[in-house]
Amino acid sequence: MSERAYEATPKEVLPHDFDEKGSIDWTDESTAINQKTMDELRELAGRYPRPRSALMPMLHLVQSVDERISPAGVRACADILGIPVAEVVGVATFYTQFRRHRGGQHHVGVCRTALCAVMGGDEIMAAVEQHLGIGDDEVTPDGKFSLESVECNAACDYAPVMMIDWEFMDNMTPGKAIAALDDLAAGKPVKSTRGPVLPGWAANERMLAGFDDGLADDGPAAGEPSLAGLKIARARGWKAPAAPKHKAAAPSEAKGAGA
Ligand code: FES
Repeated sequence: MSERAYEATPKEVLPHDFDEKGSIDWTDESTAINQKTMDELRELAGRYPRPRSALMPMLHLVQSVDERISPAGVRACADILGIPVAEVVGVATFYTQFRRHRGGQHHVGVCRTALCAVMGGDEIMAAVEQHLGIGDDEVTPDGKFSLESVECNAACDYAPVMMIDWEFMDNMTPGKAIAALDDLAAGKPVKSTRGPVLPGWAANERMLAGFDDGLADDGPAAGEPSLAGLKIARARGWKAPAAPKHKAAAPSEAKGAGA
């Protein structure tokens, strides 16, 4: 019986039923990356003992320049770090903070995880959707706002929470959320409840890449709700139980564990 080598078709190798919404948009080759950006990407890579550790900050810088993870940005990161394009794409498409498509000048995230949802997150999302005329993962026609339903921001003590440009907008209501968006649309300054005057999504992406914007000290280090438990514990003299002391492993055990 003659045997022929089996050749899988691309569809058989990677069968999936997902749409391509989560992928890098390889059809949009436009880019604003220039020599300054390349120098800054190299600078970021040089900040780490292992340059590939800089990949996430580098992707934030790409976003700040190209408004999304662009094909040119992917290739620039891969070239500078000496890693395959597929590795860069793997990271860029794993984390939801990296945009695969252009968003708005201000990016709005409404938390709808359990606590925020029951405290009013669903109503805030519905009100913002209606006010902006867009749904989850969409952008207003004028490019001012993009909207995203986000998971817990680790700010549950201020629920319901909305993010604008990754800054906290605590204890939101539909009315307060819409007022903030109207002010931004009118070009008025809007202050985050625990941070600076909102500088815009691209500016905050540059800050997240690791370039200091001088705004780190705008706002409280920790607000009242976050400190409430600590204050009660101090008033009542509560102390955390001492951590159990672990016996140091015998040299032979330590050797076995590493084998
Ligand atoms: S559930 Fe919304 S911040 Fe935690």
